[in-house]
Amino acid sequence: MIAGFADPAVRPARCEIAVTGLDELIEAAARVRANAYAPYSRFAVGAAIRAEDGTLHAGANVENAAYPQSQCAEASAIGAMVAAGRRRIAEIAIVADGPALCAPCGGCRQRIREFAAPEVPIHLCGPDGLRRTLTLGELLPFAFGPDNLPP
Ligand code: THU
Repeated sequence: MIAGFADPAVRPARCEIAVTGLDELIEAAARVRANAYAPYSRFAVGAAIRAEDGTLHAGANVENAAYPQSQCAEASAIGAMVAAGRRRIAEIAIVADGPALCAPCGGCRQRIREFAAPEVPIHLCGPDGLRRTLTLGELLPFAFGPDNLPP
């Protein structure tokens, strides 16, 4: 059997930051957004996750010349969280620019569902801060998830 990082005994210990509040989570999403690789859309997005144990996991969108291979910020942040050995999301902040609210795409709502309960807050932010908070259940009602599959 391959030992998983979800086991605290084998979790990577470096680069682990604890989030103390919402402002800090939003700040982390804004900072990682600066590293977005979005030369095609020019629409940079940053996402920061507070895992249930309080640790911070951030990611930005990563586009590709073969457009469909691009990855959303939320997917990058989830990848960082899983790589750090965490499995449960407590809260997410997403930062983007533009007049319209930037909510996660349909695919990312499903990706978040894998690791989050319907009550989990998703904070939608612009460069100037919080614009609106919605729960995952509001964004993805009647979701299909791990509970639908047999044990
Ligand atoms: N994008 C995200 O990273 N997250 C979202 O919530 C919405 C859209 C990215 C995908 C693509 O790189 C760019 O924004 C334009 O769609």
